Amino acid sequence: MLPKAELHCHIEGAAAPDLVVRQAAKYGADTTPYIRDGSFVWHDFTSFLAAYDFAANLFRTEEDFARLAEHYLTSLARDGAIYSEVFTSPDHAEKSGLSPRAYTDALGEGIERARAKTGIEGRMIVTGVRHFGVESVEAAARFAAKCGHPLVTGFGMAGEERFGDVEDYVRAFEIAREAGLGITVHAGELAGWESVRDALDHVRPSRIGHGVRAIENPDLVSRIAEEGVVLECCPVSNIELKVFDGFAEHPFPRLRDAGCKVTLNSDDPPYFWTTLKREYDVAREHFGMDERALLATTRTAIEAAFVDKKTKTALLAKVGSPAR
Ligand code: ADE
Ligand code: ZN
Repeated sequence: MLPKAELHCHIEGAAAPDLVVRQAAKYGADTTPYIRDGSFVWHDFTSFLAAYDFAANLFRTEEDFARLAEHYLTSLARDGAIYSEVFTSPDHAEKSGLSPRAYTDALGEGIERARAKTGIEGRMIVTGVRHFGVESVEAAARFAAKCGHPLVTGFGMAGEERFGDVEDYVRAFEIAREAGLGITVHAGELAGWESVRDALDHVRPSRIGHGVRAIENPDLVSRIAEEGVVLECCPVSNIELKVFDGFAEHPFPRLRDAGCKVTLNSDDPPYFWTTLKREYDVAREHFGMDERALLATTRTAIEAAFVDKKTKTALLAKVGSPAR
């Protein structure tokens, strides 16, 4: 099976509908508005976030979160993934009544269980939620910086990109950077190319979450290629959220041809009826990528991973060198 790696998946967004239904039964919640016929129900970004927040709130104990991470990473490994970075959200944990530390330890436990069963390596990227405001994103950064969990290796920001100015969040990223964490930020998904430029100018991340709307400005595409910024692309998510009309319009091949470092990711897989395997299949079917190109994408992801050198070298050895 083709070795795969994922850098961009929100752990709360990885909970499958049947698991969420079981959690709802456990806590006496009614799933009707958000899950129908075994599928999440939403129609735009706002209603997607509502379904996401509803489901996230049904994970409340350490064991709930440990099992969520264990299930997700085990399913990834079954599809050939050797490495996974998940976005965690201390804000969602607190809304569920769990401290950020207990939540992070529990997810770490789930990642360790999945590694013991399948060999998959996992790391956590603590994220702040942009539309929860500057204070809450800085609190997430302070937690990430001080938590000391060995599997927390990065910091990022998700949420509504059109909320506020990225400049206002710079302090949060500085706190994380000073603590030695890798930096990624969502931009160029629902907001236009300017959001990618602003994120690069102010946050100076090594990776951008999505970033695909950079395609709207050729000079920016050249800059991304020259600076070697890695794009965490999530093609199926983009189509389902109607960022682009269809795979034929998706800029992944054009960004790649322009020399940008692109990777394949599932974002919030069951919400978008996808898996990491499906993203690779889409790249093969719609973006004209053969096995060699897909392997190179896995290699790009591992090279950009927020992981120690020794683990990175071992992972790259599993992918193998490019054929000559
Ligand atoms: N949080 C969870 N999924 C997200 C997405 N696709 N964009 C922004 N924030 C998110
Ligand atoms: Zn995302």
